[in-house]
Amino acid sequence: MIVVTGATGNVGRTLVGLLAEAGEPVTAVSRKITESDVPRGVAAFAADLTDPAGLRPALEGADALFLLISGDFVAAADDPSGVIDAVLADAEGAGVKRVVLLSSQGVATRPDSPSHGITGRSIEDAVRRSGADWTILRPGGFASNTYAWAESIRARRTVAAPFGDVGLPFIDPADIAEVAAAVLRGDGHTGQVYELTGPAPTTPRQRAEAIGAAIGEPVLFVEQTREEARAQMLQFMPEPVVETTLAIIGDPTPAELRISPDVERVLGRAPRSFAEWARDNAAAFR
Ligand SMILES: NC(=O)c1ccc[n+]([C@@H]2O[C@H](COP(=O)([O-])OP(=O)(O)OC[C@H]3O[C@@H](n4cnc5c(N)ncnc54)[C@H](OP(=O)(O)O)[C@@H]3O)[C@@H](O)[C@H]2O)c1
Repeated sequence: MIVVTGATGNVGRTLVGLLAEAGEPVTAVSRKITESDVPRGVAAFAADLTDPAGLRPALEGADALFLLISGDFVAAADDPSGVIDAVLADAEGAGVKRVVLLSSQGVATRPDSPSHGITGRSIEDAVRRSGADWTILRPGGFASNTYAWAESIRARRTVAAPFGDVGLPFIDPADIAEVAAAVLRGDGHTGQVYELTGPAPTTPRQRAEAIGAAIGEPVLFVEQTREEARAQMLQFMPEPVVETTLAIIGDPTPAELRISPDVERVLGRAPRSFAEWARDNAAAFR
């Protein structure tokens, strides 16, 4: 049995579906999950990862764990890596042999950032020092970050965003889920760190255009200043996350611009483009 945390999110929801389709017994975990969030045959288990004791019953009889540590978790836990140590000790006690961690490219590319580099590294280290066979997935920016534009596209067919002409190779979260499913079910991935990116950089202006093409109506792009974007992001993200995010989207490092071969290496096919993501998710923007 495979336990999937973050099971109602961008990556986890697709991952649960893929594993269930492949006939794997799955327990899907999030704080607010109910039976209506999961496909037939999948067990829904509500637990908050900041309280390892609450997760323990879900781990009984599991072989593998997909571990997703959300921003909410990091904000709520006093000692995130200590809590993860406890979760992983419980997992090992329950017989879990394999752990796949959804980490972030920022662990490597922004080592001094408190959110991405330092906390991210401490979470990876907790997984590395566990007794499990681990694999770490380090994606770059998600195509689904553009859901932040959904309301203004639906209401006004307009996007306001900074750094309109700075490109990044955003990844489709469905590709991350597919890689995770392959790693959870297949062999040869132990001790690997996979960097996951899309197939080509796209700029915010191009993403707005791609969403327009997907919904069949033009979307106007209005470039924000860095300060306008910062003020908006501070309404829903902690300051260290905002600063690192602005650094990545405004002034990416060569490593953040690199197209990684790892999706293709694991799946045997190229990652999906942003335009494909926009077509698959057009309903959110109509
Ligand atoms: N977005 C990016 O560009 C980017 C880039 C690199 C890496 N990442 C990483 O990707 C992950 C986010 O993936 P995503 O977009 O698929 O997630 P998401 O859509 O934000 O969903 C988060 C999931 O985690 C659950 N959750 C949140 N806090 C929890 C807690 N304390 N205990 C148990 N479950 C909890 C949520 O459900 P409930 O609310 O029901 O608990 C939900 O299922 C993060 O680890 C992030 O660092 C993101």
